[in-house]
Amino acid sequence: MNNFILVDNPLVKRDVTILRNKDTDSAAFRAALNRVSYALAIEIAKIFEVIEIEVQTPLELAKGFRLKKQVVLVPVLRAGLSMVDAFLKMIPEAKVGHIGLQRDEKTLQPIDYYYKTPGNLDKSVTIVLDPMLATGGSAVASFNSLKAKGAGKCVLACLIAAPEGIHKMEIEHPEIPIFSASLDRQLNEVGYILPGLGDAGDRTFGTF
Ligand code: PRP
Ligand code: URA
Repeated sequence: MNNFILVDNPLVKRDVTILRNKDTDSAAFRAALNRVSYALAIEIAKIFEVIEIEVQTPLELAKGFRLKKQVVLVPVLRAGLSMVDAFLKMIPEAKVGHIGLQRDEKTLQPIDYYYKTPGNLDKSVTIVLDPMLATGGSAVASFNSLKAKGAGKCVLACLIAAPEGIHKMEIEHPEIPIFSASLDRQLNEVGYILPGLGDAGDRTFGTF
């Protein structure tokens, strides 16, 4: 799993526990996912390149930095929406695209229903936000669409990843790093992550 980076610290562990708990309501679920997203954003930012600039302090000229590339955040609807706010707080200059995908419950294949991204993806760092990497179908389809629009450097930010999804990404998009707050055991017979947290979209928006 050369493409996998576990974002692991005590606060993230605590929040993943809150997110797994079946008794956590949607408001607390969104709040915990928001906090984990800050940790993911900070960890992912370590791969950003910077350009050295000068900044005038009240006292003297100092060395400073700015990000070399435009950052584009691409939440996968619906569940990825809850990750946007924290990423935008950390990277306020980021642009935001959206990809709408829904897994067919029988075939587990992603069905795409919306795509809108900003231009110049080739010169940007594109971060796909999706809490769940299960079979990997949605992530692979997202990066297929983004690459078809010319995307250059890409990253996947997720909350829980299954080995099956990581493996599929490794085959289809081996150069794309996957940052995740947890590596879970396996998928069940209907494509849900074990132990997982259930349906991330439903738990985020209360659509049970
Ligand atoms: C969930 C999740 C991912 C996808 C992961 O979305 O947010 O997008 O499943 O599964 P995969 O790796 O097997 O493709 P879902 O299709 O349930 O849509 P929703 O967010 O609208 O509920
Ligand atoms: N999508 C989810 O929301 N949860 C899973 O466990 C798998 C796919």
